[in-house]
Amino acid sequence: MTVAARIEKLRSEIRHHEHLYHVLDAPEISDAQYDALMHELKRLEAAHPELLTPDSPTQRVGGKPAEGFRKAAHSRPMLSLDNAYNADELADWDRRVRELAGNLPVEYTAELKLDGLSVALRYEPAPGGGARLALGLTRGDGQIGEDVTSNIRTIRSVPLSITTERLQKARLAQGKAFEVRGECVMPEAAFERTNEEREREGLPAFVNPRNSAAGTVRTLDPSIVATRGLVFFAYFLLVDGEYCAAGQTATLDALTALGFRVNPHRGRVDSVADMVKFIEDAEKKRATLGYEIDGIVLKVDNHQTQQRLGYTGRAPRWAIAYKFTAESAITQVEDILITVGRSGKLTPTAMLRPVFVGGVTVSRATLHNADFIERMGLLIGDWVKVERGGDVIPKVVEVVEDQDHPRGNRRFSYPSECPECHNPVVREEGEADWRCVNADCPAKLRESLLHFGSRGVMNIEGLGDAAVQQLLDRGLVKSVADLYSLTEEQLVELERFAEKSARTLLNEIERSKKAGLARVLMGLGIRFVGERTAELLAQEFGSIDAVMAASAEELERVEEVGPRISEAILEFFSRPANRTLIERLKEAGMVMTAEKKQRSTQFAGLTFVLTGALPTLTRDEAKQKIEAAGGKVAGSVSKKTSYVVAGEDAGSKLDKARELKIPVLDEVGLLALLQSPPTQA
Ligand code: IVH
Repeated sequence: MTVAARIEKLRSEIRHHEHLYHVLDAPEISDAQYDALMHELKRLEAAHPELLTPDSPTQRVGGKPAEGFRKAAHSRPMLSLDNAYNADELADWDRRVRELAGNLPVEYTAELKLDGLSVALRYEPAPGGGARLALGLTRGDGQIGEDVTSNIRTIRSVPLSITTERLQKARLAQGKAFEVRGECVMPEAAFERTNEEREREGLPAFVNPRNSAAGTVRTLDPSIVATRGLVFFAYFLLVDGEYCAAGQTATLDALTALGFRVNPHRGRVDSVADMVKFIEDAEKKRATLGYEIDGIVLKVDNHQTQQRLGYTGRAPRWAIAYKFTAESAITQVEDILITVGRSGKLTPTAMLRPVFVGGVTVSRATLHNADFIERMGLLIGDWVKVERGGDVIPKVVEVVEDQDHPRGNRRFSYPSECPECHNPVVREEGEADWRCVNADCPAKLRESLLHFGSRGVMNIEGLGDAAVQQLLDRGLVKSVADLYSLTEEQLVELERFAEKSARTLLNEIERSKKAGLARVLMGLGIRFVGERTAELLAQEFGSIDAVMAASAEELERVEEVGPRISEAILEFFSRPANRTLIERLKEAGMVMTAEKKQRSTQFAGLTFVLTGALPTLTRDEAKQKIEAAGGKVAGSVSKKTSYVVAGEDAGSKLDKARELKIPVLDEVGLLALLQSPPTQA
């Protein structure tokens, strides 16, 4: 046997055993035997680097830690699901489905709703036949995700390559790209192990397995991801951006045939009574699954029926998530503390006697604002019901009073001054929150610095609570801009700072200068300007100067920016202190420009008329696509109409189009036109 043949044989054996172990949970060889196969393969590949391929099982952890994640567009938006919370809501949904389905078959599949994060995996034809993993994307905003391929590759239940035989078994065409979507979850045991490790390293614990899975998939070092024991369950399959199977049951079977792990707890249900039974069974199994679920997902099985039902803007009409109700516990409010945020907002927090609820120990819960405390009539010492739903943050829902739970006795008086700078606090008309309006309040500065350095903003590693507090205490930093003139001599003076950590922090600060305009806009802490808005502003205006010079009207031309946001932006830049801050950041060498998005002119001058129901796009989605390409959408057909886009049950508009000899497109035609611009003047 040649070396090349031996290598191929080892790879195929290892893949087979990985599939048995990580997908089917049915290993046939011992860990030691598996290690021996791996060891031999590694040795041969090291001796023959020319035979190494990226889909070799040895290459799950390859390459270096990433600097950050590249973004990439989804082939089709990753949508969300509408929710139902009880049998009545399921019955309403069932009725709507049957109405819209007309004479098409209505049967449902029931699956567990896995509590992790959804990812999309793109497979491309491999040179020697079969397919291999080319891209792994997080959901992101649904349109654009983050390229986390090197992390996904480390997950053992994700096949790196798929053989021709498997493609055949799943009835997928050879030589075509396809996409698998599903949920990445962290099993409870792996979650506990991860937190123990973090505790040893002095890092904050993850609050639950979902956060832990999400944090892990977005870790920059794949070798860490490889140790975290993530599992991928597949539930969707798209070929050329389209569903390819006859329905959801067929999809799950095809995914199984491809070698993916498909959650075994699934079934067919045909009535609301069946759904309720499936839910009850799932609730019983919940504690013993080993991973977390937060409900079940019901999907119309038949693909044709799915197409007829279509989508609302955010979710398919043919699926619904039944959410388990939140878990709750009773505990005592030991104190109420006030924290000051970077906008000066005062937030009361209940300090609770620690209690175990929904899988985690809770010792504090937000009380939102003064009105909330007032409305509940909450006293310090009261017993309260605390709920933790699918969401991470625990909520205080009501005061409990009975024989075992006597009322508290201490009224909480809302402070009239800021607990940090002792200036009077104010509450504006119509606002729920009290605010400290002192521009020099140290709490605001501290929170602004923490926000500026945080992940997702400037991402300055080492600029945590302790470092920021010391910088403030020593008067080294009085504004975000001062970070950029810190020196190594100043930093080594700080507690817990050695030469190395000082240099690392300075490097991190230096690196942040290149974060780009969107991050700067976010980092400034302008009210209501979060990641997406900052990104859109950066793309539209291309420089901080252009943003600062923009009028309300110009700002509001940006998608998602309304009067509330434009006013906040104008207010921010009208303050001299903020303008000085920008000047100083510029002087420090901060990059404050971005590439302006080219407005598409592909459909410039073209007018479209939409009529009838399109198979997958809603009217709004089709309109958005046309407008994004520079075209116009009109309500009625005339000689000026360039194209009529017709779906099912198109009426008189279609007749009119034929009469006037105007070209008629179906959805596929429209999408094709969007890909290849028409050659017309
Ligand atoms: S199907 C078009 N099936 O729940 C929507 N989603 O609340 C496709 N999820 O974003 C979703 N288990 O991350 C589907 N068996 C399952 C699921 C599932 C968990 C997640 C998914 C989705 C979220 C919506």
